[in-house]
This record gives sequence, structure tokens and C-alpha cells, in this order.
Amino acid sequence: MNQRRVGVLLGGWGEEKEISMKTGEAIASALEKRGHAVTRVTAGPGLDQSLRQAGVDVAFLALHGRMGEDGKVQGLLEVMGLPYTGSGVLASALAMNKGFAKKLFRQHNLATPAGYVVGTAELDEVEELHCDLGFPCVVKPASGGSSVGLSLVHTLEELRPAVASACRYGGEALVERYVKGREVTVAILGGEVLGSCEISSPSATFDYTTKYEGGARYHLPPRLSPTRTSNLEAMALTAYRALGCKGAARIDFICPDIGNEVLLEVNTLPGMTPSSLLPKIAKARGLSFEDLCEKLLALAELENVDVRPMPRVSARVVVERHAG
Ligand SMILES: Nc1ncnc2c1ncn2[C@@H]1O[C@H](COP(=O)(O)OP(=O)(O)O)[C@@H](O)[C@H]1O
Ligand SMILES: [Mg+2]
Repeated sequence: MNQRRVGVLLGGWGEEKEISMKTGEAIASALEKRGHAVTRVTAGPGLDQSLRQAGVDVAFLALHGRMGEDGKVQGLLEVMGLPYTGSGVLASALAMNKGFAKKLFRQHNLATPAGYVVGTAELDEVEELHCDLGFPCVVKPASGGSSVGLSLVHTLEELRPAVASACRYGGEALVERYVKGREVTVAILGGEVLGSCEISSPSATFDYTTKYEGGARYHLPPRLSPTRTSNLEAMALTAYRALGCKGAARIDFICPDIGNEVLLEVNTLPGMTPSSLLPKIAKARGLSFEDLCEKLLALAELENVDVRPMPRVSARVVVERHAG
């Protein structure tokens, strides 16, 4: 029998380790149910050795945040020649850095909240940098997820401590104008819109506790006009393409009652616990959790797979080009 061994990579380095363990366990069980040969590989130092020892042929990434979602593990897998689920090195790195991603969104005419990035070194100048951005504003780690280190700031006095606390996760914070509105997330799978979901929560921000310990309500489809929903889905697809994403991605928006929708972020490794949004959206489209895992696995690939050896170029041609 020629069956590929799937390594489900879980745990990892970041602050989102616990969620990753849940995501990973759910994925591993689903794939086993469907008859795949699965090994759970705890990600951490020595990951290359663990993957070799386990005889993994394809990696299913159930990681979130630092190292696992920002392109670093993807780079290791490229070097090892192991296909993996989700986006490649560059798209993962760009999506994880909310400041960089914002620049790209703007280049593609995708509206995103006004804001600025501030580093630990500029902490003393944050009140000046803030200028007329106003309050309330949202302060969050520039590279992070799951609302860890995020705060809603109402006054200038609260700003510096909030920035300092967000900077603890990677050294930079993103300060954004607070946009009041409905929260909608759009799921993309293999370059196509899978569907969207509105999340309503009793607290002012969609905080960590609400996200992972219940309390949030989900509306599929979102309580928006069909035109507005399809506009959001088109924006999500543009964002996915702008960053060069692959596999599954989840794109977060805020839709104010009056005014245009704004794009918050692209998640290149969306949560896959039973209560996560991507599986909910897939289910509404008739895809069970097991179907979704199999589809993601089928989309696993290496970025470098199409790279052919460079054609030989004679020295003369090179000289001529340079001379031109
Ligand atoms: N500019 C903003 N205006 C209003 N709410 C925001 C804003 N930025 C973040 N939030 C709230 O915080 C949550 C998490 O922010 P997000 O940028 O999606 O980061 P992550 O999910 O990676 O922690 C959002 O789902 C939203 O509820
Ligand atoms: Mg988010």
C-alpha cells in the first residue's frame, strides 16, 4: 500500500499554543476517521528531526501565530521538500504582519481602518504619533492573533500602557481607529469563496474569552443585504490574491451601518476547533469537518514545485544586458 503519512503539526511556539493543540487534535482525529495514516507532531525546536523520525510525507499545519503561521515553518518545509497545507512563505509572512498587510490592502484599494505601527523604541513618542487619530482606538500586536494583547483604548493616558503591552508580543503594535459595526468573516478555500459568517458578541471587542469560551453568536449568512455580502466576498478574494494566499484563509471585516466596510486582517491558518468559524462556514455549504480536512490536505503543496532549473545564459548575453 502506498499511503502518504500525514504529519499534523500542532502546539508550536506562540501564545496560541493551546488553541493549536485543540485544532490539531480535531484535524488528526478527522483524518484518521477517513482512513489516513496520521502522526501528531509537536512543533518546537528540533521540528526537522521530529518530522524525519515520524516519516512524514505531507504536513498538515494546525499551528497559529509566531513561527507556525508567519512563514518560518513553511520555509523549513520548503527546504525539506515536504508539501504542506495553506499559504506559502511570503503570503504567510505578509498576512502575519498586520502593518505590511495594511500597505498591500491600500495598494489594492481595499479599505482598512486608519492607523499606524509603533515599535518599542518609539514608546515615548506615541502620544505625538497618535496625532488626530482620536478615541476610542484599538491597540494590538502588529504580528499576532486570537485577540491576544489587544485592547480598546479610550483616552491618551491609556494609550502608552496599551502600546507597551501589545509590544510584548513581537516588539511592534498597530494602533487603529475603532470602527463600530457588524463583524463578518469570509472564508476562502482553494482560491474560491466558501461563504461568510457574522459574529455578534456581547462585549465591545471580539475578545479572547468571547471567542474561545462561548458567548458569541453566529449568523450564516451575515445579516447584510446580498449585495453587501457579495461586495465583502469580492474584497476578501482581492485580499487573498493580493497577499498570494493558498489553501484556506479567513478574512475579517467590520461593516458599519453607515459607511464602507473595512478589512481587518487575513488569517492564513484559520482555527479548526469544532467551534471555529471556518468549519462552521464549510458546514453551511454542506462540507463536514472531515470533508474540509480532506479538501485542505488535497490542496497541500510546495511553493517550489514548479521551479525548473534556470536556462543557461551565455556570458556574452549577460554582458550585453548589463551594458544596456
Ligand atoms: N479597528 C478596529 N475596530 C473595531 N474593532 C476592532 C478593530 N481591530 C480589531 N477589532 C476587534 O478585535 C478583534 C481582533 O482583531 P483582529 O485585527 O482580527 O486581530 P486577531 O484576530 O489577529 O487578534 C476583531 O475581531 C474585532 O472584534
Ligand atoms: Mg481576527
